[in-house]
Amino acid sequence: LNFATTLPKAYTQDDLRIGYMLALQLASAIRNADHVQKMNHAQAELRIYNNELQASNRELDAYNYTIAHDLKSPLTAIGLNADLVQRSMKENLPPKVGKYLDGIKASSHKMADMIDQLLWLARSRNSNDTLTLVEVKPRVEAAIQRFQHALEDHHISATIEGDIPMALGHGQWVEEVFANLISNAIKYMGKNAANPSITIRAISDDHFVRYEVTDTGIGIKEEDQKRLFEMFTRLNTVQADGIGLGLSIVARMVGGMGGMAGIDSIPDKGSTFWFMLQTPK
Ligand SMILES: Nc1ncnc2c1ncn2[C@@H]1O[C@H](COP(=O)(O)OP(=O)(O)OP(=O)(O)O)[C@@H](O)[C@H]1O
Ligand SMILES: [Mg+2]
Repeated sequence: LNFATTLPKAYTQDDLRIGYMLALQLASAIRNADHVQKMNHAQAELRIYNNELQASNRELDAYNYTIAHDLKSPLTAIGLNADLVQRSMKENLPPKVGKYLDGIKASSHKMADMIDQLLWLARSRNSNDTLTLVEVKPRVEAAIQRFQHALEDHHISATIEGDIPMALGHGQWVEEVFANLISNAIKYMGKNAANPSITIRAISDDHFVRYEVTDTGIGIKEEDQKRLFEMFTRLNTVQADGIGLGLSIVARMVGGMGGMAGIDSIPDKGSTFWFMLQTPK
């Protein structure tokens, strides 16, 4: 920064001091501008990486979806053919062979269930579809209905308590979320509860509705609670069928609908799995 003049003693000591301070401030302003430019550049780069990551996630989901989908038809054919052999041979079928065929059918059903879960997982990453107003109560009833047999077999009562308000989401996803939570509540009920029960209720404020599925089951230790929503987490507490995907699907779907999910639990007493969805404006 230069100040020039031909006049003698044109600048006083104060002028020089001011000039010096000005130069310092300008230098720091230039440095800051440089930092801001670098930061903007870094942010732009981050945005590009983020977009690339999202694109490759989408590609991976599409790939998973295709594989899972294509695996399903030959698998269904295996189960159907085993069934056809049993039906066409009827009583001519040696009992041992009948048992083997039952094994084939059971395994193909189990695998079909796993594939269904993978299909849900691939479908349930952030959806671009706009959220719609979902009548949640019929979705809860439909989810309970899916498990009517298991509930009766295990003498578990399932009750909807109070009002179940509407929220923004995707109807089919909401049903799937409840189905996963109810399926878990049944599987991890344990043997200790005197009156094994599942209670579904909701509370709402201006912004969110919080839906809760409470069970009187085995509960989950605090240190295990955080990782439950990660893929393939299974706690070796009871023998139950599953691959550890249910809750990760729940977390993804709820996140995809602009909400969040969580858990409160006391070991040996029971658990409350909850999720929040936005209330309609
Ligand atoms: N209501 C519950 N009470 C106690 N433990 C639970 C409950 N729900 C889930 N868990 C624990 O969390 C683990 C993860 O649940 P998640 O639904 O993701 O998988 P899963 O039920 O094992 O298999 P999948 O749902 O894929 O068939 C379970 O294996 C179980 O240990
Ligand atoms: Mg599950």
